[in-house]
Amino acid sequence: MSSSVPTPTPDLRARFEAAGGKPVYVRSMFDRIARVYDAMNRIMTGGLDGRWRDFAARQAALTTGARALDVGTGTGDMAIALARRSPEDVLITGVDFSEGMLAVGREKIKRLGLDGRVEMLRGDGQGLDFPDGAFDAVTSAWVVRNLSDIPGGFREMRRVTRPGGRVVCLEMSHPHNPIFNWGFHLYFDRVIPWLGALVGKAFDAYSYLPSSVVAHPDAPTLKRIMEDAGWADVRYYYLMGGVVAVHVGTNPA
Ligand SMILES: C[S@@+](CC[C@H](N)C(=O)[O-])C[C@H]1O[C@@H](n2cnc3c(N)ncnc32)[C@H](O)[C@@H]1O
Repeated sequence: MSSSVPTPTPDLRARFEAAGGKPVYVRSMFDRIARVYDAMNRIMTGGLDGRWRDFAARQAALTTGARALDVGTGTGDMAIALARRSPEDVLITGVDFSEGMLAVGREKIKRLGLDGRVEMLRGDGQGLDFPDGAFDAVTSAWVVRNLSDIPGGFREMRRVTRPGGRVVCLEMSHPHNPIFNWGFHLYFDRVIPWLGALVGKAFDAYSYLPSSVVAHPDAPTLKRIMEDAGWADVRYYYLMGGVVAVHVGTNPA
């Protein structure tokens, strides 16, 4: 069965059109907020974002000598989680199309002494500059929602993953308990944009966040999108009642 990808809300469509397209909007937004991005994540999630990345990194199940790709690596926190959750000889490549995010990430990787294991490259998740089957696992954390072509993104991740290798996708999702969902949206829609304004003078960027979550597929739909892109054995885990979901799949041999 083919799965439908929800279209952006009219508000989002207007923002993308005004900027010259979704990729331009997304890239320039992350360039703008790069210096406050990490602090905002810690504040918004009360530090839980680190635990969620850690859970996702364990799902990548990297063994000695493996190579991993982190798509939309941003300031590098998912790549760092992979490095911490894998043997010392595992090499991680992070790619992102925002130079601002990469600059913050490169400084952090160096400070942590991980520059021998983690490289941060400029690249586009919709067209990865790597040969077929180059990686044992491909991860993404809070990226897929930002892609202009989600099915195409998952096909591209599969192309660069070796047969038997894994994909791990950590993304916002939709809490299943209606009362919790109501509270979550109250916080997300009303509080987060003002936090963004206060911490980073970035009301617009942090109002994109709740709008983009509304437009994002629910976990079963995302699973079907991944299956349509050729991933096998796709399963997902809800964290914090479905605020986020981690999807894991295998590239069939
Ligand atoms: C919400 S941030 C996530 C950063 C990081 N993965 C983390 O765990 O904090 C999303 C990142 O995806 C990047 N991104 C979005 N679309 C992309 C694309 N098509 N190609 C490369 N990077 C992209 C953005 O520039 C941004 O750095």
